[in-house]
Amino acid sequence: KLSRQTTGREAIIAFRGGFHGRTVGAASLTTSKAQYRRGYGALLPEVYIAPYPYPLACALPDAHDAEACATHCLAELDAMLEHEVPPEHVAAIVIEPVLGEGGYVAAPASFVRALRELATKIGALLVFDEVQTGMGRTGAWFAAQKFGVTPDVLTAAKALGGGMPLGAVISTRERMERWRTGTHGSTFGGNPVSCASGLATLQVIRDENLVARAETLGEIMVEELAPLRSHPRIREIRRFGAMVAAEFDEKSVAKAAIAAALERDVLLITCGFHDQVVRFIPALNIGESDLRKGMRAFVEAARSAQVASPA
Ligand SMILES: Cc1ncc(COP(=O)(O)O)c(C=O)c1O
Repeated sequence: KLSRQTTGREAIIAFRGGFHGRTVGAASLTTSKAQYRRGYGALLPEVYIAPYPYPLACALPDAHDAEACATHCLAELDAMLEHEVPPEHVAAIVIEPVLGEGGYVAAPASFVRALRELATKIGALLVFDEVQTGMGRTGAWFAAQKFGVTPDVLTAAKALGGGMPLGAVISTRERMERWRTGTHGSTFGGNPVSCASGLATLQVIRDENLVARAETLGEIMVEELAPLRSHPRIREIRRFGAMVAAEFDEKSVAKAAIAAALERDVLLITCGFHDQVVRFIPALNIGESDLRKGMRAFVEAARSAQVASPA
């Protein structure tokens, strides 16, 4: 709404695999799974979905790295602006700099920077959805900083409120002052208790150096997952800060591993287009021994799942 109203343009470009929420507006940009759109009839018009650089799920036929994938995706985006939506219609380019629900896939920095250049060139806003990646999770306060890119608008929530319901749409004062008073708001917006919780959370993250700790936690997780590299059903283990993913070849193995982990008192969930990815996103203040214990339990669980599910 901010992008449309302050640019006077209508079109929004989002990326396949992104998750932005479940209101009708947000669901219109959400494509991590079609299930979030099922049964709701026509969603927002003027939304265009471009490919996200995800080498394991890319249309290019041969195995390739993230940079090649990014080049392909940028070419697709150019084609979209040539064939489907005129650049001067685009209000915003909205992206998760690291796909969350879509599978814990970080876009290459070169791709994110190219989007910044493109948005500036065509006069569109670059919007980062950092609801999942924000608040220190990636080893920086915001993933944007790791990419060295400043978006025009950034969304934050989840960890922002430290467990209390709190979300934020962040932009420059100048842009916010152009968002006409009364045209956006919410009954619970600016809730004082949630805001107090948010302030306390910011203090804890800062005082306990949790942003720097995210990187250490990520390293520990990947180290503990190393024995799974030879697991015949694992396609990739990847991390960005303290967002770690183990991608299996199919959902049944990921689900079996999660079920076996639960028997060992470790609660995990999947992500990914087909629920084929197990994600690890522990609290940034988790004790190291708890983290290692949990990761080891998962490794054991995944090994037992390898036996349990047919290839
Ligand atoms: C990146 C991202 N954006 C937006 C949301 C939407 O949050 P909500 O469902 O609370 O609206 C989520 C939730 O998982 C998310 O991960």
